[in-house]
Amino acid sequence: MKILVEKEINAIKMPENLRTGILIAEQRKKCTKMKCNFDFSALSFGQSPFHVPEVIAKALGQNSDKSHYSDAQGIIELRKKVAEFNKKHFGLEINPSRIIIGPGTKTLIHMIFEIIKGDIIIPSPSWIGYYPEIKLLKKHFHTFYLKPEFDYKIQPKDLDGFLFKLHKDQRILVLNNPHNPTGNLYSKKELEEITKICRKHNVFVIADEIYALTSYNFRNFVSMGKIYPEGTFVTNGLSKDRSAGGYRLGHCILPKNCSK
Ligand SMILES: Cc1ncc(COP(=O)(O)O)c(C=O)c1O
Repeated sequence: MKILVEKEINAIKMPENLRTGILIAEQRKKCTKMKCNFDFSALSFGQSPFHVPEVIAKALGQNSDKSHYSDAQGIIELRKKVAEFNKKHFGLEINPSRIIIGPGTKTLIHMIFEIIKGDIIIPSPSWIGYYPEIKLLKKHFHTFYLKPEFDYKIQPKDLDGFLFKLHKDQRILVLNNPHNPTGNLYSKKELEEITKICRKHNVFVIADEIYALTSYNFRNFVSMGKIYPEGTFVTNGLSKDRSAGGYRLGHCILPKNCSK
């Protein structure tokens, strides 16, 4: 039987990185059959080549009997640990009530897109995972092109001009820091400048900080949750620095003092 799908689904193509990943897997298979003596470097996929830290793997095993439905927000023990983790690594003081646990940050970002009203602003280039979610949700979005002469970083002045041209309702900016694909890291000063513009224009930020702990210069990393606490959804998880993408565990820190 032919299955009819919604037209938004038809419009979604497999992201290039997944396609490249499949292609590389096929080539490797062929290569094994032909006994060729070289490998392919799969640079398209954010998959850590390292092992999951033993302590995490052990904890998962030890708790595999816990099969009851848990709190929708995430169990309080975990949310407290996430708060401690954020304090230790990023100096963020967060009450666990602001923390939501989810199956990976991709799903959490999808949920924020879905729940929070307003057009979405995606800087380009960016991780290609955002667009399919936005299209699936039929959300309005705007691409904010980053310029090579500014090292593909958001320029506050440009953002200001860009936002002036849009309508004045609430909007959501996706700020991925450190940035996939360029590896750029925003300084505290740069984040403060971006925050000024976001405050001025009523823009919420989704700070996708999944690569924070892989920063080459970690000392220079500052979480947007520190700079713009009232307007930022910070997302992070186990996928990259702890090599546990398949565990599907992420968290989101909600903006401070937010209310409907
Ligand atoms: C920038 C960025 N954000 C989010 C994700 C997805 O992370 P998660 O495994 O937590 O869904 C990725 C994965 O490649 C990514 O590159």
